[in-house]
Amino acid sequence: MSTGFNVAIDGPAGAGKSSVAKKVAEQLGFLYIDTGAMYRALTYAAIQEKIALDNEQQLVQLLKENSLELTPTEFGTTVYWNDSNITADIRSNDVNKHVSLVSSHKDVRLLMVEKQQQLAHAKNAVLDGRDIGTYVLPNADVKVFLTASVEERAKRRHLEQLEKGQPSDLKVLEKDIAKRDELDSTRSFAPLKQAEDAQIVDSTQMTIDEVIQTILALVKEHSV
Ligand code: DC
Repeated sequence: MSTGFNVAIDGPAGAGKSSVAKKVAEQLGFLYIDTGAMYRALTYAAIQEKIALDNEQQLVQLLKENSLELTPTEFGTTVYWNDSNITADIRSNDVNKHVSLVSSHKDVRLLMVEKQQQLAHAKNAVLDGRDIGTYVLPNADVKVFLTASVEERAKRRHLEQLEKGQPSDLKVLEKDIAKRDELDSTRSFAPLKQAEDAQIVDSTQMTIDEVIQTILALVKEHSV
């Protein structure tokens, strides 16, 4: 049984889930759990260890034999794989490309989901991901499905990359995002899907602040 108040924010890649979830958690004084970062961390570690990313049992073993910790800080979530801080490494293009495959394995997901449920049940928390409202926390108090058009999501990523001084190609980003949407929503186990009782928030024409206020209003409605 859940004892914490849980807010689930699901949606496709690049819809702004993590920036929004982090701010919503901050405003509410809740823990923020970035579940995508967990799949990214395993993907990064598997690439480093040269494990074949379609080898489900080796991925499971890698996850079981190492420690994966998410530590909230004022700058966001810091991700540790054993003693290494891999927060920046998990956002590389290489990880972006391969994380859908790693996260498609059922046994990998079952282990990750168990960790996510333990964290969420113990505390008031905002979780962002793909399957939080449908699978991880089907009884979450508030469920949001945050989306935006592929073009808008690619444009946002493009601007982020340019701001960081990294090379970026808008058309390539559009293709990558559409591909990741397809992989995430067609995998057989716990795919990206809107929960029937989730509120859709389409952020294509909204600012981050408007999205945050919309979600805070949904939380408030639920708690009064
Ligand atoms: O939210 P993100 O882009 O950091 O997520 C990275 C990948 O992890 C995404 O392509 C799908 C997968 N993921 C998932 O399958 N389930 C989750 N709850 C969160 C992420």
